[in-house]
Amino acid sequence: MQQREAGQPLAHVLGQAEFCELALAIGPGVFVPRPRAECLVEVVVSLNPTTVLDLGCGCGALAAAVKQRLPDGEVQASDYDELACQWARRNGERYGFQVHRSNWLKSLPEAFDAIVAYLPHVPTAALACLDEDYLRAEGASSVAGGADGLDPLRAIFPDLRSPLVTLLSAEQLAGAKGVAQQFGYELEVAYADEEDRAVIFRPCGTRSILRSGPAAAQCAPPTAGSPPPASQTDPDAGPGGRRIAARHGTPRYE
Ligand SMILES: C[S@@+](CC[C@H](N)C(=O)[O-])C[C@H]1O[C@@H](n2cnc3c(N)ncnc32)[C@H](O)[C@@H]1O
Repeated sequence: MQQREAGQPLAHVLGQAEFCELALAIGPGVFVPRPRAECLVEVVVSLNPTTVLDLGCGCGALAAAVKQRLPDGEVQASDYDELACQWARRNGERYGFQVHRSNWLKSLPEAFDAIVAYLPHVPTAALACLDEDYLRAEGASSVAGGADGLDPLRAIFPDLRSPLVTLLSAEQLAGAKGVAQQFGYELEVAYADEEDRAVIFRPCGTRSILRSGPAAAQCAPPTAGSPPPASQTDPDAGPGGRRIAARHGTPRYE
């Protein structure tokens, strides 16, 4: 109770977080996996990859969930933070993935069939809107993405040799397309809800690697009376895209 009253996230107090219905070991100083990132698992699995990297893995939630969905796949995970790597290694032993310490892709020269990453992408101005307790407990470097939230992408693209699946806010799409173009990549939206966009960056001129059909339907099944798939209404939504409701205003980061 004292730890909770002092603002520690429940997952840090319990030493356990849940992601895609999996239990993950975790401790203070490490980013607590968020349900909103679960759609990334659906998108990357829909690409049918054999080798997958969870880049900026924190405790390894994405790697664990991907390995569960692709038991024959070779899943690796990396983070530059040694504490995160220690928790990820514990989870890697349990769920079957390897962990490396690396500043983005600098120490990981090989190509993967797909890279999945829930990157720090909160713009500087939006940091003040975040839950202070979480920001203190997880560390700003887990979430802060620079002025427009896209600095981690700018750091990753020069070394990128694989399709990259990541989550952005709707407001970041145009900027992210511009960054990608500078490095010869284009952006495809695989999933859309009212605030988030799960996107795939792939080399310009290569064919879409999204399988036809709903890539992310399973992580957020449409409810009765929900609007039509975003692929029918939203030029930025891919075949699996779905828009829950038109929404304007400040994006919600957490
Ligand atoms: C938003 S958290 C996501 C963690 C995990 N993927 C998840 O969903 O729970 C971003 C992660 O990126 C890591 N990170 C930040 N800068 C990095 C860098 N330069 N190289 C590698 N990882 C980095 C942080 O340590 C943090 O674990």
